[in-house]
Amino acid sequence: MNILIIGTGYVGLVSGTCFSEFGYKVTCIDQDNLKIKKLKKGIIPIYEPGLNELVKKNIKNKNLKFDNSINKYLNNSDCVFLAVGTPSRRGDGHADLKFVFKAVEQICSMVTKKIVLVTKSTVPVGTAKKINKIVQKLNKSDYINVASNPEFLREGSAINDFLRPDRVVIGSNDNYSRKILNTLYKPLNLLQVPIVNTDTETSELIKYASNSFLATKITFINEISSFCKKTGANINDVSKAMGLDKRIGSKFLHSGPGYGGSCFPKDTLAMSKTFRDHKTKFNIVDTVIKTNNQIKKNISKEILQIINKNNLKKILFLGLSFKPETDDIRESSSIFIIKYLLKKGKNLSITAHDPVSIENAKKEKLKIKYLNDFQASFKNQELIVIATEWNIYRSINFKKLYKKMKSHHLYDLRNIYPNNKEIKELGFNYYSISS
Ligand code: UGA
Repeated sequence: MNILIIGTGYVGLVSGTCFSEFGYKVTCIDQDNLKIKKLKKGIIPIYEPGLNELVKKNIKNKNLKFDNSINKYLNNSDCVFLAVGTPSRRGDGHADLKFVFKAVEQICSMVTKKIVLVTKSTVPVGTAKKINKIVQKLNKSDYINVASNPEFLREGSAINDFLRPDRVVIGSNDNYSRKILNTLYKPLNLLQVPIVNTDTETSELIKYASNSFLATKITFINEISSFCKKTGANINDVSKAMGLDKRIGSKFLHSGPGYGGSCFPKDTLAMSKTFRDHKTKFNIVDTVIKTNNQIKKNISKEILQIINKNNLKKILFLGLSFKPETDDIRESSSIFIIKYLLKKGKNLSITAHDPVSIENAKKEKLKIKYLNDFQASFKNQELIVIATEWNIYRSINFKKLYKKMKSHHLYDLRNIYPNNKEIKELGFNYYSISS
C-alpha cells in the first residue's frame, strides 16, 4: 500500500510516520520547503515524545519520505490523506476549509489513477460531500473515491494513540474506499482494535461530538471545582469517586484552569457554528465555550487579587504549554493568564520556566523573562504559579527552594499538590483552583 499525506503538521506527521511503522510506503508532502529539508534529515519541527525515533527509523528503512511535490507521488498512491490545517475563521468560529479545497483541486488536476481521498483533518459534517462535488465538477469521479477517517490523537501521547487506539472510525459511502481503508487498518484490527465503519457524515460528526463531549466533561468538573472552593468540599475526592462509576469514568475529570490547545477551543466553536448553519443550537456546547472563557478570566482575576493584596511584584510561572509533554502553546491557559497580568498588573516582573515550550512562547513577544534553569528560576520570586502539570513540577523540593524565594506564595492551577500540609507548614501561602 502506498500512502500520500498532504500536510506535514502535527496530525500529518504523526499519522504518516505511524503508517510507515505498519510497513506501508508513505510520502509526507508539505509546501514549506524548509520544513521538508529538515525532515529529510530527520529533524522534527515539533516536540512529540517518541516521534523523533520513529521518523529516523522509517526514513532509514525507506518506508518514509518527505517531499514538496504532490505530482511526483500522486499517481503511485492508493490512499491520499488530507491533513492540512482547518483554522478557526475569525468572528464566526467556522473551520476554514480553504486549504482542504485547494489540495482537492490540485489533486484533481493531476490524478490519472484510482485513489481514495481521505480527510484526516477535522472537518465539519458535510465536507466529504462538498469534496465529492468538486471531484464531480472536475470530472474525476472515475479516479477519486472520497472518505473520512478522523484522528483522535492527543498531543504528547500521539504515537501511542495512533498505534494503540480505542477505536478507528472509517467513513465511506462506497465499497471501494471502505475496502481500501479497512485493509489499511488491518494491523490494528488484528490487535482487536474496534473499527467503526460508517458513512462520511457520521464519521465527521463523531470527531466533533467526541471533542465537544470531552470539553464538556472538563468544564463540568471545573465548575464543580470552583464550587468546592465555596463550600469546602474536596475536588480530588469528588473526581475520584465520580470516576469510579464506570458509567462516568475517571478520564478527563481533572480540574484545571480551563481547557486549551489547538483542538477543543477551535472544534467547540466550529461545532456550534455548524449547528447554527443547520438552524439549530448546541446549547450545552455554547455554555461550555462561554464557561471555559470565564474560568480563565476568573482565575486570572483571582491571581491578580493575591498579587495586589500582598503587594507582590516577582512572579514565576511554571509551564507555558497548554498541557504537559508538548511544546504547543496555542490557547494555553498559562499564556492567557500571563497576558492578563501584564495588562492589568502594575510593575510586575514575570519569569517563566518550561521544559520545551520557551522557543514557541518567545514568538508571542511577551514582556517576560524566560529561564531554562529550573532551580535558578526560583531566586527572589514572591509568587509561584504552577500552570502546566509537567512531571518535573510534581517533585519540587519546597524546603530547598523556600530559602531562594523572597516571599512565599504558591498557586497550584493543576491541583498537583492535593496533600499540601507540608508545603503550608514550611510557611507557604498555598492557593488552588478548588481551595
Ligand atoms: C484532543 C483530544 O483529546 C484528541 O482525542 C483529539 O484527537 C485532539 O484533541 C484533536 O482534535 O486533534 P489534545 O488537544 O492534544 O487532544 O489534548 P487533550 O489531552 O485532550 O487536552 C485538551 C485540554 O484539556 C488541555 O488544555 C488539558 O489541560 C485539558 N484537560 C484535559 C483538563 O483540563 N482536564 C482533563 O482532565 C483533561
